[in-house]
Amino acid sequence: MTLKISVIGTGYLGVTHAACMSSMGFQVVGIDIDASKISALSAGELPFYEPGLQELLVAELASGRLTFSDSITSAASADVHFVCVGTPQRAGSLAADLSYVDSAIENLAPVIKSGSLVVGKSTVPVGTAERLLARLQHVNPLLDLAWNPEFLREGFAVEDTLHPNRLVVGVTNDDAEAILKEVYAQNLAEDVPWIRADLPTAELVKGAANSFLATKISFINAMAEVCEAAGGDVTVLAKAIGYDPRIGSRFLQAGIGFGGGCLPKDIRSFMARAQELGADQSLEFLREIDAINLRARTRVIDLVRAELEENLIGYKIAILGAAFKPDSDDVRDSPALDIASQLQAAGAAVTVHDPKALKSAQLRFPVLNYAESIEECIAEADLILHLTEWKIYRELDPVKLIGLVKRPIIIDGRNALDRDLWISAGWKFRALGRKAIN
Ligand code: UDX
Repeated sequence: MTLKISVIGTGYLGVTHAACMSSMGFQVVGIDIDASKISALSAGELPFYEPGLQELLVAELASGRLTFSDSITSAASADVHFVCVGTPQRAGSLAADLSYVDSAIENLAPVIKSGSLVVGKSTVPVGTAERLLARLQHVNPLLDLAWNPEFLREGFAVEDTLHPNRLVVGVTNDDAEAILKEVYAQNLAEDVPWIRADLPTAELVKGAANSFLATKISFINAMAEVCEAAGGDVTVLAKAIGYDPRIGSRFLQAGIGFGGGCLPKDIRSFMARAQELGADQSLEFLREIDAINLRARTRVIDLVRAELEENLIGYKIAILGAAFKPDSDDVRDSPALDIASQLQAAGAAVTVHDPKALKSAQLRFPVLNYAESIEECIAEADLILHLTEWKIYRELDPVKLIGLVKRPIIIDGRNALDRDLWISAGWKFRALGRKAIN
């Protein structure tokens, strides 16, 4: 008999996981305490933008395999329960807020059937899985728990879930591994690497992977600072070191740094947990990674001041991009919006454009001015800041735009625009980690 699956938490991760599991042929119920989210999802409305997911959601609902419910009792008949709730940064602390994970386990334990397997996917501090397993078995000794960290990237969520580059499963026994092999049979048939680990290692893999990625980005942003001091060009430097296969060219895009709902909070929670474990020295370097990352936001503001003047009051600044990265409408800890609001607070008149994230940006930063079109955004601007590298911005024609602005100055905060094109069209082009060329 095909396994029945429940997915607890229908945020970004949960909806993607539920729809993808359904597309693999499982009967899936997605459960969330937010009834309005559940009714939207049941009607085939995705509450956020993610390429390909809307279509998949509609197709899987139509198949009859995927349903949504706001009642935890809907999990009762499932064999495997994926916990996909959020673990945001705790207010007033670097640590993660585990209240959603804890309550998911408390609510699940009494309603699910004996012999079923709970699988954690949320990013949690090491030691959480062992604690939750004890809690489950305290309620019912015939329940089991595994940890199966998620590595999906926003913008590629469906692709990363259907074709992950590895599967990591933290288990305490062979039966749990066998169940997970049944769940992921389709991936295993495609030779996706399978890594069995104990519970703490599975939890640590996620913290380690995100820390490494954050380190790579902050490394290149530190090199950008050195390039600025020495008159070098970080884009050429990144290209040159990236050809070494031991280094690799990906995640070496210098700019305003990382944001989003994962990397910033995950490295902080990793540091906080290491401190609790007495291993704070080991992750001390992540403080510097975090600091370099936040400094990139200040550096771009310094560049704005250098181009206009120290006092920004009254200057009109156009910002291209609000999402924390392209192909997403996620604005959680978005470097672009952080910079926009800092400039606004400094007295500039800021107008923001984004092809998908205007609604989410407006909700989070209602005081900023937003424009539906690029032309409206840049009209009479004293300076344009390119802060999220959407394809439509990379394809802009600088010749056409130059007549719309007050001063033809553009700062590329993502090192993604074609500098020669903009300069030959008559623009002053500035970027982090690169010399000014007029
Ligand atoms: C990340 C991890 O990649 C993923 O494996 C994990 O599951 C969740 O966190 P995501 O948050 O979707 O995924 O974004 P990612 O593509 O990693 O980018 C994070 C941030 O780094 C973005 O703000 C992006 O603009 C920035 N970035 C990325 C750079 O500044 N330079 C780069 O070279 C790469």
